[in-house]
Amino acid sequence: MLPARMSRRSAIHALGLASAWAISPLRAGLAQAATQNVPGFIDPLIARMTLEEKAGQLTLMASAWGGDRAAGLNPPGGSTNFTAQIEDAVAGRLTGVFNVNGATMALRMQKAVMQRSRLKIPLIFAADVIHGHRTIFPIPVGEVASFEPELAQRTARVAAFEASGAGIDWTFAPMVDIARDQRWGRAMEGAGEDVLLGRLFAAARVRGFQGDSLAADDAIMACAKHFAAYGAAEAGLDYSTVDISERTLREVYLPPFQSAFAAGCGTTMASFNEIAGVPSTANHWLLSDVLRDEWQFRGLVVSDYTGDEELIAHGVARDGRDAARLAFLAGVDMSMESDLYRLHLPSLVRDGLVPEAAVDRSVRRVLAMKAMLGLFDNPLRRIDPAREAARSRRPEALALAREAARKSIVMAKNDGDLLPLARATRIALIGPFSSGAHDIIGGWSVYGDDAQGVDLATGLRSAGGQITVVPGCGIDAPLPGGIEAAVAAAQAADVVLLAVGESQEWSGEAQSRTEITVPAAQQRLAEAIAATGKPIVVVLKNGRALALSGAVRDASAILITWQLGSESGHALAEVIYGDYGPSGRLPISFPHESGQEPYHYDHKSTGRPQAAGPLQPYKAHYRGVPDTALFAFGHGLTYGKISYSDLAFDKPVLSRDGSITISAKLTNHGRRSAAEVAQLYIHDRAASVTRPVRELKAFAKVTLEPGEKRDVQFTLHRTDLTFIGMGLTPTVEPGQFDVWIAPSAQDEGVHGTFEFVDAV
Ligand code: NOJ
Repeated sequence: MLPARMSRRSAIHALGLASAWAISPLRAGLAQAATQNVPGFIDPLIARMTLEEKAGQLTLMASAWGGDRAAGLNPPGGSTNFTAQIEDAVAGRLTGVFNVNGATMALRMQKAVMQRSRLKIPLIFAADVIHGHRTIFPIPVGEVASFEPELAQRTARVAAFEASGAGIDWTFAPMVDIARDQRWGRAMEGAGEDVLLGRLFAAARVRGFQGDSLAADDAIMACAKHFAAYGAAEAGLDYSTVDISERTLREVYLPPFQSAFAAGCGTTMASFNEIAGVPSTANHWLLSDVLRDEWQFRGLVVSDYTGDEELIAHGVARDGRDAARLAFLAGVDMSMESDLYRLHLPSLVRDGLVPEAAVDRSVRRVLAMKAMLGLFDNPLRRIDPAREAARSRRPEALALAREAARKSIVMAKNDGDLLPLARATRIALIGPFSSGAHDIIGGWSVYGDDAQGVDLATGLRSAGGQITVVPGCGIDAPLPGGIEAAVAAAQAADVVLLAVGESQEWSGEAQSRTEITVPAAQQRLAEAIAATGKPIVVVLKNGRALALSGAVRDASAILITWQLGSESGHALAEVIYGDYGPSGRLPISFPHESGQEPYHYDHKSTGRPQAAGPLQPYKAHYRGVPDTALFAFGHGLTYGKISYSDLAFDKPVLSRDGSITISAKLTNHGRRSAAEVAQLYIHDRAASVTRPVRELKAFAKVTLEPGEKRDVQFTLHRTDLTFIGMGLTPTVEPGQFDVWIAPSAQDEGVHGTFEFVDAV
């Protein structure tokens, strides 16, 4: 039932066997025990350090020699003077820097520290390697549409290979925040709205970045971020307040972190937001009681960029010194960018406000991490300018970028089987995203370059397509004569490919939107093209789910294509011409209207659910708008025609220590092969706390040739039915469960029930 190349551990997860194991404190503890060896030389080294040098080991700053993009994403708040930064490092005032610009720069800094510093503690070089380093893969949420965690593991492996060649030891990834509100721009960086996908992709990406051994010269340390609930910001406004129940926190937002730690992730980043009045950076309950005491996490906690200093703006710290004290005592080991630890920790210790033993413990974690990365054995392990170039954009990496891109494309609609197109089809390629070196690779690529990405026009041409390219309008503004030229091109063509959507700058950090729509200038273009009567294939560019309307929503075919990375145009051409059948599935729900947000498929029923059919008065829906998705979570069409039938259970009852196997038959009635993602959802009919209308528990990608029938089979255990109960602890209660095996969260597929009895 599983993709052939899935690893054993991913296979176990996909079958839903390991959910409780993956989230159990014991499992997390074991993984951390395995990853936190503190070599014997570390404590004697700490004993030789001054308080100032200890605070230096807890201070990370943006590189004064960042690239253009790096500087834009993270303006170095401190010095932009590289020579001065080297001197800070030599004086022991820095643990390392982030978003460095390559091995040449890292070499100069590391050599200076190893030759001239008193204690010769190697620097660590960190970076935001989010969806590729030089070879850029689809934005993370797009890649999740593959429903192949193993693919994400492979792309993270390549990212680590390239980044470690460039001197990078540590990535601020994976971002594992659940995103249930598509106004939030950082939905693009995670695994979408679902907890199971969040957990599987978190673990896969950690395994990919870290490889088999962190000391290897092609491995980098992962950092699960942002701890915690950063994606639950009120109204989807980045950085805004989070006020959620502890149940939702533990059931929805924390599990991906637990899976990341269970996979060996050695670091986490405190989130910018508050939860119920307490900013994460000052949240002792979160960073110490839950993370350390309950989960036994033994890795390192870093603040987000000036997160400690922001405690002043949050209104919980009086000044920088107070902010440093609060963050440190809450459990933030390392301060990013504010410089507050370096400035204040020594005096806080001298004044008896911070115990020196606590400082030593944090320094021990930092030095243990550097040791695990092999830096004490060879500080230049990952720094080699020649290797940096040799590892960059190798053919096999670009081939993987193409594979990941093609698997990320979701075909949301294909009326009349308009797609795939024959190569002889005369195409009018219209829209601001048709061609040009912009908006190809995606928003979180510090070291990527749009100019090296393949745009749609280039992809179609190199596949032998017959295309006329007309932009028609800008991303957010009309072009003089644009619509007229586009209409003329449409009239002369057989089919229009309409490349519309969002700029890659419109998602990512600080890029929240109130209306998640196609911009007005592009919508006007779409309406004018629709008036020509030509068949339209929308090729949507998006970093989040969008509320589509008018001619864009009503186009015959819609491909949801995110930002696909370096090989974007080639991958799109493969799907458009049918060399590859679309196989992606939505990891986020596409609502009818922006105003439905936050919208997620695993919502609660309410006391007044709206039944299928015409809208009923006094039921849960907006005026005139059903509270469903336009394109549901899990939705995605193939070039085949798949039916679901013959739901079967190996037994009617699941017992406490038993299992239940649920199967269905899939048939491809179409004329082309199809990669179908069969999804298993459950619903707990009556529990002591309300449960979601559906929860994804397992899925399998199955290839079916024309006329082929195949059974899919999933095995569930008691642990798959767990929820956070009245006592805020994992609970399973006996009773009836609905189960569906279906092609999306909104599709009936095949449906049945089974019973759980809490007895052997
Ligand atoms: C702020 C972002 O929130 C975080 O995700 C990122 O890693 C840091 N800046 C460093 O770039």
